[in-house]
Amino acid sequence: MSINDFVTLGIESSCDETGVGLYHSQQGLVAHQLFSQVEIHAEYGGVVPELASRDHIQRTIPLIKAVLADANLGLQNINGIAYTAGPGLAGALLVGSAVAKSLAWSLKIPSLAVHHMEGHLLAPLLEDKKPEFPFVALLVSGGHTMLVDVEAIGKYKILGESLDDAVGEAFDKTAKILGLGYPGGPALAKLAQQGDEGAFKFPRPMVDRPGLDFSFSGLKTFARNTFAKYPKQKADIAKAFEVAATQTLMIKCRRALEQTGHSRLVVAGGVSSNLSLRKELDKMGEKTGSSVFYPRQEFCTDNGAMIALAGHLRLTKGQVSVDSDISIKPRWSIEELEAI
Ligand code: KG4
Ligand code: ZN
Repeated sequence: MSINDFVTLGIESSCDETGVGLYHSQQGLVAHQLFSQVEIHAEYGGVVPELASRDHIQRTIPLIKAVLADANLGLQNINGIAYTAGPGLAGALLVGSAVAKSLAWSLKIPSLAVHHMEGHLLAPLLEDKKPEFPFVALLVSGGHTMLVDVEAIGKYKILGESLDDAVGEAFDKTAKILGLGYPGGPALAKLAQQGDEGAFKFPRPMVDRPGLDFSFSGLKTFARNTFAKYPKQKADIAKAFEVAATQTLMIKCRRALEQTGHSRLVVAGGVSSNLSLRKELDKMGEKTGSSVFYPRQEFCTDNGAMIALAGHLRLTKGQVSVDSDISIKPRWSIEELEAI
């Protein structure tokens, strides 16, 4: 087998989505499938870790079979297996890790632990419009809000992060306050479309202070207090929250581009599917002469394609996880990764 025909199987199971992808050196992404557990967790208003793990157990192997069938490939065609080892829910991560390690062991092929946020960060490389290095990455998900200086694959420096709630978490909590159910981010964004932007003005947290850290928990409190006073203006509150959150993110991205001197911005993670955020960032990019890159909508949220790609880029450079243990890293800083 030449490195030009290398096929990587990627497995994502860090939270409430089981994702599997197959990435080929020359053909790129050849198949991917996702099972979202949204309906399982909806009645509890948030992710229930034990239910997440149990469902990953049910889904992972059928999804692997399904992507192989989609690509007209068999187990014997896989040359390496990448799995999300962290950060994420321990029980959920263990499922992907156990399947990946056992399958790799039985097929006598290498396996590799992938960092979930590196998966998000590299997801725009699955698109036709790909960023070149270096760039600034804004990673916005349910668990993380980070600005990262990306010099090359594996050379990451965190420029700023959230001191309290991640932005996706703030969307979810604000949605819950407004009675929009779970998952809240997309529901809040939808309601905001009917809101009047002039009705309320929420603060832009921490923009008047130097630095690139974020704080979003105050916005959620602001939404709660406003809702208590004006219970009939749900859509206006959703709009005010979304505008304040997205403008805050835009201001910090502009600052990070100025600070690093980079002219490319990559935006990834669940919240990068938010259309108001994209509009705000595209406008800033045009004004400052920077290019902004996103994954396609379905690869903004968790998926197996990004893990297959991130793993592929490392496995084909000879990186493997040498331990045969079923190892996971529920807490893992992106700065600890090795360059390739
Ligand atoms: O990256 P992701 O799928 O999972 C994590 O790694 O956390 O991100 C999920 C987060 C959730 O907080 C969800 O509410 C948020 O992304 N999200 C959105 C939108 N779509 C997903 N937030 C705002 N607007 C959206 N359109
Ligand atoms: Zn994620």
